[in-house]
Formats: sequence, C-alpha cells, structure tokens
Amino acid sequence: MRLRSMLFVPADSERKLAKATGSSADVLILDLEDAVAAAQKPAARAAATSFIAKEAGRLSSRLFVRINPLDSGLALEDLAAVVMPGLAGIMLPKTFSAADVLRLGHYLDALEARCGMPGGEVRIVPVATETAQAMLTMASFVPGIPRLAGITWGAEDLSAAIGAVSNREADGSLSPLYVMANSLCLCAAASAGVAAIDTLHADFRDAAGLAASCATARRRGFRGKIAIHPDQVDIINAAFTPSEAELAAAQRVVDAFAAQPDAGTLSIDGVMVDMPHLKQARRTLGLGD
Ligand code: COA
Ligand code: MG
Repeated sequence: MRLRSMLFVPADSERKLAKATGSSADVLILDLEDAVAAAQKPAARAAATSFIAKEAGRLSSRLFVRINPLDSGLALEDLAAVVMPGLAGIMLPKTFSAADVLRLGHYLDALEARCGMPGGEVRIVPVATETAQAMLTMASFVPGIPRLAGITWGAEDLSAAIGAVSNREADGSLSPLYVMANSLCLCAAASAGVAAIDTLHADFRDAAGLAASCATARRRGFRGKIAIHPDQVDIINAAFTPSEAELAAAQRVVDAFAAQPDAGTLSIDGVMVDMPHLKQARRTLGLGD
C-alpha cells in the first residue's frame, strides 16, 4: 500500500469531497474527527458512507476514514457506518499504545465479516503521539502487528494533552517534546516494519516551506506526509519519489554487489559501501522494505 501522500478531506464538506475525487493523493482520508464540529458528526458520517459506496470502484485502494478516538463514544458508530467494500483503511487518532490498534483490529474483524469483506483487508494507520501516555508506550510497536500499514504523528493534540501554551520555542523551532514525537514515530514505524508518515504542514499556501519540510522528513526516513489541502499533494508526491539520479546511484550499488556476491564491502568512486548502503539502495529501488 503506497502512503506517500495522505490528503485529509473533512467529510462534512460536499465541495471538498467532490474536489478530492480528482486528487493525485495516494490516499484520501475522509475525516470524521477534529475537522468536523460536534453537531456535524452524524451528517459527516452519512456523507462518508455514501462517498465510499459511490467511489468504491474508482478509489477503492485509496480510501481511508479517520474515525473519532476509541474512547470518544463515537468510534463504533463511525466504524459501523464506513466499513464496507471500498474502504482501504482507518486512521486512528489519539491512541494510547499499540493495544488500541489490536482492539480496532478486532472490531474490524467483525465488521468485515458482516459485509463479506476478506478478513484483514482494512488497514490501520494510528496517529501515535497525540496523548502523553502514547509517548511513554511507543515501544509497544513491535513487528507483526496485524493490519498496521504505517504510523504517523502529530504535535497539536499532544501540546493540548500536556497543557503547553505552544509546541514551539520562542525562536519558532519545535520544542524538544515534539522533536521527540517525530523521532519516536520514525523508530516505532521501523520497529513495526511499516512506513513512517510525517505530520502536516499547516501553512497550506507556503509551497517552499512544504517542500523544505518534505525534504527534511525524507532525509530522516519518513516515507510520506499528510496533506490538508489539494495544492500540497503534488509537492509531497514529488518529494517522496526518488529522482532519476537517486535511482541511478542506487542501481549502481545493487549492481556492484551483484557483480561481487562474496563481497561484504566495496568501493564505488572511492567511497566505501557496505550492507546498510545496499539495504538503502534496494529500498530506493522499491526492492525491499
Ligand atoms: N480536500 C479536498 N478539497 C479541498 C481541501 C481538502 N482538504 N481543502 C480545500 N479544498 C478545495 C476547496 O473546497 C476549494 O474547492 P472549491 O472552490 O471547489 O470549493 C479548493 O480546494 C481551494 O480551496 P481554498 O479556498 O484554497 O481553501 P479553503 O479556504 O476552502 O480551505 C482549509 C482551507 C484549511 C479549511 C481546507 O483546506 C481544509 O479543510 N483542510 C483539511 C482540514 C482537515 O481535514 N484537518 C484535519 C486534519 S489536521
Ligand atoms: Mg488532531
């Protein structure tokens, strides 16, 4: 499942739902949570149901829904409304640990059976750093968690949970707790063997800032990024797609090792390359995780 760009679409907005159908985002996340006011939740849920039913054929491997948190009292109704053929995944906000992913997986087992979907088809991407507890339980993301497709992080809800006035320092840089959340997301995703997806760039008119934040994220190991506006999608897709030069360089590393199968380390243009470089090169070429 490709998770380079994941575009949030508030499910209570007919216009945004209509616009989203033409987006080149790898995934559309129909939002039932924080982009939707409490009074609009039932309407948003109904709109998500119709949208998935209508677009199931065209967008089937690309449709996610962000449900309300498991402890909100709304999650089960959300799930009952949207689990149907055509749903590719659930984004789970405000998790406390990987146990929440397992619990959601059990709900999905039942709902998939109800509508005749293959068991395990609906994948899960948790927003794994939105509660204080979650920051202390990130080690729960171990290999082999059923349905887990990726892990993302957020800085806004965490600062609200902590009671911070801001998640930024006086100079505008992210405060240490949120840098830690970013790093823990990378580590937890690698530990679980899934993609790390970077959080959103809120200033959606700032194309240069978005491109820079994508470049930073990609260098750090993120495989994709959340989008909140259609204009962000192409920038994100470009940033997380290897360039021709990167592909060529990776191919050289793979070819060099293929030519010398007994070598553990080699020199290319006077630079040492060994197993971690081969692993990274294979990943760039889409040959490994
Ligand atoms: N998905 C689909 N379409 C979107 C969109 C989105 N996330 N954001 C904007 N659009 C559409 C608008 O409806 C508009 O199309 P229209 O003229 O046919 O109605 C077009 O794109 C241009 O929108 P623009 O005027 O530039 O933005 P806006 O002021 O209408 O909306 C936001 C700005 C931030 C409110 C909007 O982008 C949004 O709702 N983003 C998602 C927020 C969200 O889901 N947050 C939760 C996760 S943190
Ligand atoms: Mg949130």
